[in-house]
Amino acid sequence: MKRRYAEITGWGMYAPPRVVPNEAFVAMGLDTTDEWISSRTGIERRRVVGADEATSDMATKAATQAMAVAGLHAGDIDLIIVATCTPDHVMPATASIVQDRLGMLNAGAMDLNAACSGFVYALSTGAAQIESGRARHVLVIGADELSIYLDWKDRSTCVLFGDGAGAVVLSMAKEPGIMASTTGSDGSGAGLLTIKGASRRRASSNGAPGGSANGTEEAPNGEATVITEDGYLTMNGTQIFRWATQIMPRAAEQVMASSGLKPEDISLFIPHQANDRIMKASAKRLGLPEEKVFSNVREYGNTSAASIPIAMCEALNTGRVDVGDYVVLSSFGAGLSWAALALRWSVPIPSHVGPWKPIRRQVESRMAAVRSVLRRGERSVRTRIDKTLGKSED
Ligand code: ACO
Repeated sequence: MKRRYAEITGWGMYAPPRVVPNEAFVAMGLDTTDEWISSRTGIERRRVVGADEATSDMATKAATQAMAVAGLHAGDIDLIIVATCTPDHVMPATASIVQDRLGMLNAGAMDLNAACSGFVYALSTGAAQIESGRARHVLVIGADELSIYLDWKDRSTCVLFGDGAGAVVLSMAKEPGIMASTTGSDGSGAGLLTIKGASRRRASSNGAPGGSANGTEEAPNGEATVITEDGYLTMNGTQIFRWATQIMPRAAEQVMASSGLKPEDISLFIPHQANDRIMKASAKRLGLPEEKVFSNVREYGNTSAASIPIAMCEALNTGRVDVGDYVVLSSFGAGLSWAALALRWSVPIPSHVGPWKPIRRQVESRMAAVRSVLRRGERSVRTRIDKTLGKSED
């Protein structure tokens, strides 16, 4: 049987318009300086969402651009994967909200949480769907708004992160675009980087007493659950730093070996954009000169699952990648988790999108909105009828 491959055919990104420069933290009264932040991390500014902006809003904007570049229509997409650790809700999946907004009626939709490694995990998962013949076109999005989980009084974390989204369309191809990928996890380091939120755990697993004491409640099965309300991001920066400088190049080496690539074959290395020093140390270990490493952490900070797709978009849009180039992506994050992927760039990079496409897309997106409103209306009428008749919705 003929082998199927996956290639990237569309890409897009979104960064919220609100820019927060390093000086803003000093103005807020934090004991820090622009010099400390930029020299230790490379970050000079980051984007932060507005009050009415959710992860799904950013994801939808990035995906709309990616679809325009791919020249596909909403009905062509078979699967949407949103990599995020800051979904709009615990449920439904943010991917389902994006699916509804974009009117992708034939698409399955799911979220994937591997923190900052999520986008590369999702790219690998989407490519596998295409390679196995289960999908022709997969929309892969990395989107996060960590700013809403930051303690803005904690100088050791709040200066590091920003918000944003990036998206790619993966399509079936005759030649390998995606060449190799690897994913990994070491949960023994789970406590090094957390957002616990309103975590629920079985009391029996952590020795807490059952019953009705504060912070516990009785589950239907009789076991007590513990609810913690520790909503902020916490991080052991030093340990993460040390581990990241080892794991990011190691994962990249694995995919280079699997695809038979040597350092001199690589045109561009796009690492997770967390800290310039981590990126430089990784490149050095890989034997790559600095000019082959893409970095935009200065502009956006660490945007978690959005960092690699945003970097990839900027690399493509600024002519850093050409047809035939070998590109390696490598990421690390909470979990602990890591993922890397090697690809051969295979599609021409358009300088602009033709004028007819936006018109058709605008019509499609209006129709998607109208369809969504009609479906919601139909559901609400059905609920009312069921209530009147004393039945519950099936
Ligand atoms: N301004 C001034 N001083 C600061 C600041 C700040 N913003 N933040 C920390 N410091 C202080 C610390 O309190 C410490 O002071 P002390 O020595 O009196 O205790 C001092 O600076 C040095 O701190 P270090 O931790 O040794 O500084 P380091 O050079 O390691 O840099 C940093 C810290 C930038 C956090 C680094 O460790 C790092 O980048 N770690 C990796 C973090 C990361 O990438 N996380 C994201 C993972 S991806 C994901 O899944 C979300």
